[in-house]
Amino acid sequence: MVKIAVLGYGTVGSGVVEVLKTNQKLISANAGDEIEVKHVLDLRDFPDDPIQEKIVHDYSVILNDPEIQIVVEVMGGVNPAYSFVKQALLSGKSVATSNKELVAKHGAELISIAKQQQINFFFEASVGGGIPIIRPLQCCLTADEIDEISGILNGTTNYVLSEMTFQGSDFEEVLREAQELGYAERNPQADVEGFDAGRKIAILTSLVSGRQVDFEDVYTEGITKISSADMKYAKKLNCIIKLLARSRRKDGQTYVMVAPFLIGPKHPLYSVNGVLNAVYVHGNMLGDTMFFGSGAGKLPTASAVVSDVVEAARHLHDHVEVKWSQEKMPLGKIADYVSRFFVRVKEEDQEAACALFGSEKIVDAGIAGEVGLITRAMTEEQFAHLAESVSLLSRIRID
Ligand code: HSE
Repeated sequence: MVKIAVLGYGTVGSGVVEVLKTNQKLISANAGDEIEVKHVLDLRDFPDDPIQEKIVHDYSVILNDPEIQIVVEVMGGVNPAYSFVKQALLSGKSVATSNKELVAKHGAELISIAKQQQINFFFEASVGGGIPIIRPLQCCLTADEIDEISGILNGTTNYVLSEMTFQGSDFEEVLREAQELGYAERNPQADVEGFDAGRKIAILTSLVSGRQVDFEDVYTEGITKISSADMKYAKKLNCIIKLLARSRRKDGQTYVMVAPFLIGPKHPLYSVNGVLNAVYVHGNMLGDTMFFGSGAGKLPTASAVVSDVVEAARHLHDHVEVKWSQEKMPLGKIADYVSRFFVRVKEEDQEAACALFGSEKIVDAGIAGEVGLITRAMTEEQFAHLAESVSLLSRIRID
């Protein structure tokens, strides 16, 4: 019997308990041993839930319990999760976490502690919710130079953008729904400002490069400025607006960014809607591959966490190698990144803007007093420079 402790009985924590209970036999067969939740750490009590008999309020009960071999951290946030996880690893307990903030910031250090202790620090659920992407990158895509990862990595924003696109819904109203459905972060600013996707693409880039990509170095734009007018132009262009998290190698540089993009029907991420996430990966030998599925929510995320528990139970006394050192990965400057842009300008600025941006095509979405146009390909720096000469109503990169 492998005894585990769960830190946090919120959306994901209760999901972990439910997954383990619902699929108990199958999970035990996969793990090669029975898995039992012995303790659940939470500040709260749950008098009407059978979990109450396992609730502890003091972490030292778990840390000092020699029977606990695996700790599941699903509290979220960096503190106190970092100190709890580090102590667990130092005391010889493997850890499975869904906490992308923790992994993005301290992943490399926690992996190195796990290696010293010959145990494991697993974090499959930290990117893409229930989609297997971390382990495939480490185990299956090891023969390739990965030159691009482009993903829809945040379920909340994809849900919001999809509802705005297909139902014409209002941003605030859809965001509230996403929160009620348990997709959003406690502070949904991390979702809508792109920080959550930024942490996830930082983790994926760290894994493929083997070096630390700091989330703070990822150029990040969220979806808060996307309006219903932008949606009308997207429709007119037969495109859709998606928040893409992208890591791309070009001319020896790795550019990492999160931003809304207009993408057309031939793009692999075009039909990824609602809370679904997808990660497109391009390898220099493999070519294209894509991972697709439930990117957020209680049970999909818990399913990925429990798969880590199974993997940890299979490797209780040996470390599964993860290539991610603490050495910092130098990133390309976003000022040099080349895109085409869709811009909206006032009707009276149409001629000047067309000449400035080298645009040949005017887009009329039927909004009085303004038009849209598509620029030639240029670097971010060139675009920012040109944009100083004309007043833009909005701008979105085109993929
Ligand atoms: N808030 C996150 C999302 C949860 O919406 O994708 C899963 O990481």
